[in-house]
Amino acid sequence: MGKKLIQVERLSKKFKDQVALKDISFSVHAGEIFGFLGPSGSGKTTTIKILTGQLAQSSGRAFVLNNAVEQIDESIYEQIGIVTDNSGLYDRLTVYNNLVAFAKLLNVDKKRIDFLLKRVGLFEHKNKMAKNLSKGMKQRLILSRAMLHQPKVLFLDEPTSGLDPVTTEAIHALLLELKENGTAIFLTTHNMEEATKLCDSVALLNDGLIVEHDTPKALTLKYNQDKRYQVLLKNEKEVNVAHSAESIQQINHWLLNDELLTIHSCEPNLEQVFLEVTGRELV
Ligand SMILES: Nc1ncnc2c1ncn2[C@@H]1O[C@H](COP(=O)(O)OP(=O)(O)OP(=O)(O)O)[C@@H](O)[C@H]1O
Ligand SMILES: [Mg+2]
Repeated sequence: MGKKLIQVERLSKKFKDQVALKDISFSVHAGEIFGFLGPSGSGKTTTIKILTGQLAQSSGRAFVLNNAVEQIDESIYEQIGIVTDNSGLYDRLTVYNNLVAFAKLLNVDKKRIDFLLKRVGLFEHKNKMAKNLSKGMKQRLILSRAMLHQPKVLFLDEPTSGLDPVTTEAIHALLLELKENGTAIFLTTHNMEEATKLCDSVALLNDGLIVEHDTPKALTLKYNQDKRYQVLLKNEKEVNVAHSAESIQQINHWLLNDELLTIHSCEPNLEQVFLEVTGRELV
């Protein structure tokens, strides 16, 4: 595993008498995509705000690139990318000039602007003013800006919400490239498919508390108590069988007689894991 680029130790946040984060701890390494999953109001954005120095924690410690978050050094921002809802785009600048402005600040070669605009499908819109972009286009521009300087740490607050499947796919490919190049990615999402596909590890957050933290695979296996198999037979019959000595014999029989077309184990997806752990849906 790469170096620890984000480290969070027993972090808590209170807003007056409301506890938004309760003693959470985790770390994210270089080349890791960490998924922070939880229903609305569970504390995801609050965590990102604390980790990016926009909000002070009530207790506990957090470090980004070895910098304590309550006193983030200005120079660290050059190595961090942030995508949240408070976009900070220049409304009256074009798509292209928004990125030029950041490229200058961050000393990035302008060639990368064209590369990214093509990758997120904004190249043909590069001369439109930011304020005239659609929601999804704005989101893509904010993402391009956050990736412009190939940051060491990237914070993404629901980066693909509201995007179409093709654009989402393009963004996923870009994120995986950044990961391959050693970026640590902190991602919040409601989209369980996205989390399963992208994340090396996920933390499930419920009411400010991390209730599970593991790889998506380990979590789905852990909660696969009631082992079942979905079988499709050549006679087009579909059967769902529980794992037992008897059913294994039956499956064996189908296999030997060449009657079986497909067979799948039915481990739960992350959504079902979340429901089982918290009794709540991930919405
Ligand atoms: N500035 C604030 N003042 C008071 N309460 C706040 C503030 N910011 C967040 N909260 C509260 O903290 C809790 C967590 O909010 P947060 O925005 O972190 O949730 P979230 O997990 O990002 O939700 P969503 O999925 O809807 O974006 C909520 O109950 C929210 O009302
Ligand atoms: Mg949020």
